[in-house]
Formats: sequence, structure tokens, C-alpha cells
Amino acid sequence: MYFKNSVAAIIVIFAIIFGAKTFFSDLVHVGYDDNLTLAERIAPLGQVYLEGDIDVNVIKAPVKTSAKARSGEEIYTTVCASCHASGVLGAPKFGNKVDWAPRVKRGIADLVKVAISGIGAMPPKGTCMNCSDDELTAAIEHMIK
Ligand code: HEC
Repeated sequence: MYFKNSVAAIIVIFAIIFGAKTFFSDLVHVGYDDNLTLAERIAPLGQVYLEGDIDVNVIKAPVKTSAKARSGEEIYTTVCASCHASGVLGAPKFGNKVDWAPRVKRGIADLVKVAISGIGAMPPKGTCMNCSDDELTAAIEHMIK
């Protein structure tokens, strides 16, 4: 009696599993996409470009936005003037021959060198950290005129 029931139960369970499998396999289509060709299905995920495959000259170098050097006057007015206009902390004043004469004697190259590293109360690069050496030179030349 029990044995017969369990055999029946097992048959019913198998029937349900098999039925469900056949039913869902039509709905859920796992595997490959029939619409793709064989070549598309076995194609690698990435592609490798070999030298000469693409024209590198077509890829332009990124445009530098701040490539144009600012003028000495511009640097002086925006950065250096805060100290050098009125001589804050003993800074040599703008266009003041007495302040600048002994320094100019050492040569512009040395003034630029000192301005880059800073001296006493003069901060490195006069706080203009994005100033190029050329821009600092121009700013100094503007100040000692
Ligand atoms: C925070 C104030 C301050 C700012 C901003 C500043 N300076 Fe100066 N600078 C000084 C002081 C103070 C001195 C005098 C330092 C000394 O002789 O001890 C000086 C001196 C100098 C000297 C003479 C250095 C020497 O060898 O005697 C140069 C050149 C100079 N500054 C250039 C610049 C330039 C260019 C800028 C702007 C980019 C600038 N400074 C911005 C305070 C400043």
C-alpha cells in the first residue's frame, strides 16, 4: 500500500518536472541567439588593432588650453602686485630704481632663480605656482622697468 503510493508519487513528481521543463524551455531560451550567424557567435569579445590598421594622424593631440604664455604685466597685476606695488614686508617696489638697482646688478637670470625658490618673506614663485619660468621672467622685467 505504502509502496504503491510512493511509486505513484514519484511518477507524478517526475511528470511535473518533465512537463515544467518542456513548458519553460520554450519560454526561457538559454543558450545562443538563433539570429546570429556562426561567425558572430564565435567571434572574440575584443578586437586588436595592429600597427598600421588605423591612421594615427587622424587622432589629433589634445588641445592645450593654457598654452599661450601670459604677459609679464598680467602676472604682475594678478599675483606680484599684492606685495610689490606698495612694498609689503620690504618687497622691492614696482618700478622703484632704488629698490631694484642693486638687485638688477646681479642679473635677471639670478633674480628669476631667487624668485622661483623664494627668499625671506618672498614666497616661492611669488605664490604663482602655475607660472612658467618665462612668465616669471616677464613679470620681473615688467617690475624693474
Ligand atoms: C607675499 C608677498 C610677495 C609676493 C606675492 C611676491 N613677492 Fe617678490 N618679494 C617679496 C619680498 C618681501 C621680497 C624681498 C625679499 C628679500 O629680499 O628678502 C621680494 C623680492 C622679489 C625679488 C627680488 C629677489 C632678490 O633676489 O632680491 C624678485 C625678483 C621678486 N620678488 C619677484 C616676484 C614676482 C615675479 C612675483 C609674482 C609672480 C612676486 N615677487 C610676488 C614679496 C612678495
